[in-house]
Amino acid sequence: MSLRSLIAVSAGVIVFSLSGCANSPGRPRPDDIQINPADISDFDTLYKQNCAGCHGTDGKGGAAIALADPVYLAIADDAVLQQAATNGISGTAMPAFAESAGGMLTDKQIAILVNGIRVRWARPGVLHGANPPPYSSAAPGDPSRGADVYAAYCSSCHGAGGRGGAKASSIVNGSFLALLTDQELRTLVIIGRPELGAPDWRSNIPGKPMSSPEISDVVAWLASQRPKFPGQPFPSNTKPAGESR
Ligand code: HEC
Ligand code: HEC
Repeated sequence: MSLRSLIAVSAGVIVFSLSGCANSPGRPRPDDIQINPADISDFDTLYKQNCAGCHGTDGKGGAAIALADPVYLAIADDAVLQQAATNGISGTAMPAFAESAGGMLTDKQIAILVNGIRVRWARPGVLHGANPPPYSSAAPGDPSRGADVYAAYCSSCHGAGGRGGAKASSIVNGSFLALLTDQELRTLVIIGRPELGAPDWRSNIPGKPMSSPEISDVVAWLASQRPKFPGQPFPSNTKPAGESR
């Protein structure tokens, strides 16, 4: 066979295999075709691909809080959601998702996430007129008052000094505190972790909701136990290698 006819035959084989019938093996089906990641506009897909790993399948909570928590969504507005998703929360595992901040999502996709979280998972009226503490507070808490607040509201479950009790684990563990901001501690005290049986600000002591200053104080008490050098049992006096004096 001449080289020319060999080429002709092989080309024929290629054309034949490319034009194979609709269900020939290996032929991509319409739903196999990759969409450009920036064009994904379906909330479920965006949530699953970007958030579910930490905030849980369907927003039900995991290593990080449940976003499908109507009490959370009643205290955190869209600006909170958008800011966290766009820029992440520095010093924690919460990544920045916006392209403008080095992430992979367009501003439009972040807006789809924020809107979807609200539309799917918020429940207007869930607080039945209860007057929730504000999401954030600029007034600094007082750690020594916070120790008393802790003893009154929390020790029944988390044990003396927060080191763990019969009903709940330690919350003063250095590696736990090192990974969360003060705001996240405040969020946790306000909303609890309903999926884990942790009460919200109203039900540590049934019938006696915590006030916003009490929450700030207990957060200041927790924060005062955060290690300054996470992962290092002793503060080091030596300069890191390569750093000049
Ligand atoms: C009725 C029992 C109970 C009370 C009261 C209670 N908690 Fe908890 N708390 C839990 C349970 C249950 C969990 C989840 C499981 C665990 O950590 O053991 C939890 C979890 C937590 C967490 C960790 C959340 C996470 O992401 O892992 C923090 C922080 C916390 N509680 C702080 C507090 C503070 C501060 C108070 C007092 C204002 C308090 N809790 C009162 C039961 C309680
Ligand atoms: C790798 C784990 C991880 C992933 C993935 C992740 N988060 Fe987070 N997220 C966290 C952690 C940890 C925090 C708490 C940070 C802190 O301490 O303030 C957090 C905090 C947040 C908060 C603020 C909570 C508050 O207290 O108000 C929002 C809102 C949020 N995440 C939304 C999202 C959304 C939306 C996605 C997906 C686009 C996402 N997160 C993906 C780990 C993650």
